[in-house]
Amino acid sequence: MKLFSSFLFAAAALALAAAASTGTDAGISFEYHRYDELRKALVSVWLQCPTITRIYTIGESFEGRELLVLEMSDNPGTHEPGEPEFKYIANMHGNEAVGRELVIYLAQYLCNQYQQGNDTIIELIHNTRIHLMPSMNPDGFEKAASQPGEIKDWFVGRSNAQGVDLNRNFPDLDRIVYINEREGGANNHLLQNMKKAVDENTKLTAETKAVIHWIMDIPFVLSANLHGGDIVANYPYDETRSESAHEYSASPDDVMFKSLARAYSMFNPVMSDPHRPPCRKNDDDSSFKDGITNGGAWYSVPGGMQDFNYLSSNCFEITLELSCDKFPNEEMLKNYWEQNRDSLVNYIEQTHRGVKGFVRDLQGSPISNATISVEGIDHDITTAKDGDYWRLLAPGNYKVAASAPGFLTVIKKVAVPYSPATRVDFELESLMERKEEEREELMDWWKMMSETLNF
Ligand SMILES: *[C@@H]1O[C@H](CO)[C@@H](O)[C@H](O)[C@H]1NC(C)=O
Ligand SMILES: *[C@@H]1O[C@H](CO)[C@@H](O)[C@H](O)[C@H]1NC(C)=O
Ligand SMILES: [Zn+2]
Repeated sequence: MKLFSSFLFAAAALALAAAASTGTDAGISFEYHRYDELRKALVSVWLQCPTITRIYTIGESFEGRELLVLEMSDNPGTHEPGEPEFKYIANMHGNEAVGRELVIYLAQYLCNQYQQGNDTIIELIHNTRIHLMPSMNPDGFEKAASQPGEIKDWFVGRSNAQGVDLNRNFPDLDRIVYINEREGGANNHLLQNMKKAVDENTKLTAETKAVIHWIMDIPFVLSANLHGGDIVANYPYDETRSESAHEYSASPDDVMFKSLARAYSMFNPVMSDPHRPPCRKNDDDSSFKDGITNGGAWYSVPGGMQDFNYLSSNCFEITLELSCDKFPNEEMLKNYWEQNRDSLVNYIEQTHRGVKGFVRDLQGSPISNATISVEGIDHDITTAKDGDYWRLLAPGNYKVAASAPGFLTVIKKVAVPYSPATRVDFELESLMERKEEEREELMDWWKMMSETLNF
């Protein structure tokens, strides 16, 4: 009864809010959301757009706050075969508050636009499973937000409640891939078969473990990690090969990562402004160009989440620095939304680039965990449960191979435009079938020979 009446109240309040304002930013409340308000904001979006949203939690912070996610999709709660998955994670540094708010506003915007019949948004939500996590570090945010006054300390609330910097807490897979580059070894999924080791590792925080499981369990294709303190789109690798503090550290997908970072920065007039002065007088922004930077060229980050995504899963992630101030005055939030709105939407669209399709056997059964490799790019990706795959690629001509243990490898030539993704399916012949075929051929030959020779 109580639940029901509060539901009615919420619905009525929403109807009022919707009636009060229409247009692009209708229904968006440009204010900070503390933990309870964040929950309420997500629930409002869910009540307003129940057929395309779902709220779930991937775990709890050290102090027991939920790590909430709002999912937006035409089939919330399920992975549709062939449909790529996308995520935004904000506020892993609890005092970097702009990204947290922008992800909430984005949820409100997408829901509004969907309801208003915006074709771009409808198509995006129908063809992409979008996961929005406003805060990976809700404890840190509460600590930062509860400081009195409008000016917040530069560091208070950055770490989680145990004092751990979450963006230095991920398993350092760069060091492994750098050894493998020299000595041979896997170039992807470097934590394969190590779930137990992750769970038992006491150095990993609850927040980090929850996100690791999330990354490993869902076939994410693309992601961004939202920060503050500067204005730039930062792409892998974040950790330098030589362990020097600043060094351009190209990943095998350097061309695509630059293109992805650019797809964000180009729609943000402040980020892409070549004449923008550095945030602070002594900042070294010499690695920034067109609003983007290689992570290692800016400064080396060991144990970061961005490189972890790329090296442990199929997911490509970049890091977005959205504001010089980490926790600006509330009046600035609308401004930041306007600077970033088109970038946030355009970046989700990047999920639909490169090649995608299915890998199946000759009977049409899906082959999961098959390897998709691209000639000249030393980073393979794998198929998901339904044999579906998404391989982000910049425009060009490629040779793409699909292989799986027990099957003959198939290689196809593919021309890739900027977008949309080119559909390329693979049918793999099993080696067992091949052996059977060869045996039959031999039998036929033997029969023919016998008949000719009148045995
Ligand atoms: C529809 O959404 C796109 C992407 O956010 C936006 O650029 C466009 O202005 C929206 N159209 C309307 C009519 O609001
Ligand atoms: C996927 O394949 C790799 C090697 O090809 C193997 O090590 C791994 O265990 C497989 N993973 C699953 C979930 O089957
Ligand atoms: Zn940060």
